[in-house]
Amino acid sequence: MLDDLTRAAHIPPEIESICDDLSISICVADPDGNDTPLIYVNPAFETLTLYAAEDVLGKNCRFLQGALTDRTVTDEIAEVVRQRVSETCCLINYRKDGSLFFNLLAIRPIALADDRTVLMACQYAFKPTQTAGSLRRTCSALDDAQRKIRFGLRSGPNPVNMHDTYRLDTVAMRFEAAFVRVKNCLIRMGNAQMIHTYPTYRHRSQYEVLL
Ligand SMILES: Cc1cc2nc3c(=O)[nH]c(=O)nc-3n(C[C@H](O)[C@H](O)[C@H](O)COP(=O)(O)O)c2cc1C
Repeated sequence: MLDDLTRAAHIPPEIESICDDLSISICVADPDGNDTPLIYVNPAFETLTLYAAEDVLGKNCRFLQGALTDRTVTDEIAEVVRQRVSETCCLINYRKDGSLFFNLLAIRPIALADDRTVLMACQYAFKPTQTAGSLRRTCSALDDAQRKIRFGLRSGPNPVNMHDTYRLDTVAMRFEAAFVRVKNCLIRMGNAQMIHTYPTYRHRSQYEVLL
């Protein structure tokens, strides 16, 4: 039986080195470990959250949550983790220094060569906002932008804020680029299975975006 630290050593070093070099925040968690512990975080995750890898490896990523985190979104993530499916959502998180950020989070299951499935996530921080009122406004702007992206409505009586749309599209592309690089690495390593790139929208969160 592998303990969590031994399992961590089994993350392919090829994948670690790809993720180490990416500028987008990435972490990997083991859904078979006790409370889905983090088994890898990249330097961009440390920069974003201000937590050092040694502080967080072995812990569940919920340490980023706090008073304003939407529990309906975390409940959905819990279900996603149980089912090992994909999810993209937005939730309020806190850095180590207590500062708040909107975290656009995408989670994807990755099937490794030894038949283990781990969960890889990309995080993107939106600019921190100061008050509950402005948080709500940002949320509803995001929601609006995402709804319009989903239905392809980029113009009309209430045109989507193109800056938000562009920003979300750009983040989505960066997320997908990170997942694809890991997928290609697994293929190069001869893994017949690979990362599941398509989100299942069964547990759609309020602020989900299409990737
Ligand atoms: C790979 C991965 C990355 C995650 N990243 C975050 C994150 O950046 N922020 C966050 O608030 N929760 C994150 N989570 C979700 C929490 O770890 C946890 O699964 C969620 O809070 C639901 O479980 P709970 O209801 O037991 O807390 C992540 C989960 C996984 C599997």
